[in-house]
Amino acid sequence: MQNLAIFASGAGSNADNILHYFEKSSTIRVNLVVCNVPNAGVIEIAKKNCVPCIVIDKITFVSPEQMLSILKQYQIDRIVLAGFLWLIPSYLITSFRNNIVNIHPSLLPKYGGKGMYGMNVHKAVAENKEEITGITIHLVDEIYDNGRILFQKTIDVDAKDTPEEIAHKVHQLEYAYFPEVIEEWCQYGLV
Ligand code: GAR
Repeated sequence: MQNLAIFASGAGSNADNILHYFEKSSTIRVNLVVCNVPNAGVIEIAKKNCVPCIVIDKITFVSPEQMLSILKQYQIDRIVLAGFLWLIPSYLITSFRNNIVNIHPSLLPKYGGKGMYGMNVHKAVAENKEEITGITIHLVDEIYDNGRILFQKTIDVDAKDTPEEIAHKVHQLEYAYFPEVIEEWCQYGLV
């Protein structure tokens, strides 16, 4: 059995989808949700799915002793970032090298980096009249949106699409592919 922790900061619709996907898995289990925003939607989602959720502050997050002891307590093997907006500190990257994955709502390296998250990405895509956008699932290293890319999928953007419509299309891709990519990454590691 491999134990996952999902880190999330927002509504948690990806977390919800991942929790459902692995609900009956005999090889992969989501043991913990970690959230850094005290009233984020993902907290209710964890509760609804009967998965423990810990809300952390910055002091806890940057403390190797505290965070590593929480992750050890829940026997976490791998970490999934699903809309988590803090940069991952280097002690966590070192302790979980190649074992942290992130989803980004654009075709990296386009529209990545600090400040590029959620609707900011979709607004920039619309403003720049991009004809395609999509999702990127990648390993996490010390730099925002920089690690090795495991998977990308594109969708067309219509000239009349609003940022909200682009966000909706991108979310559908995330729901369709993120759990499967996580599953393969857990099963086969890096190939
Ligand atoms: C998702 O679209 C995810 O790709 C994005 O935040 C959203 C979270 O939605 N992540 C980033 O922008 C990371 N840079 P959710 O809370 O409903 O899953």
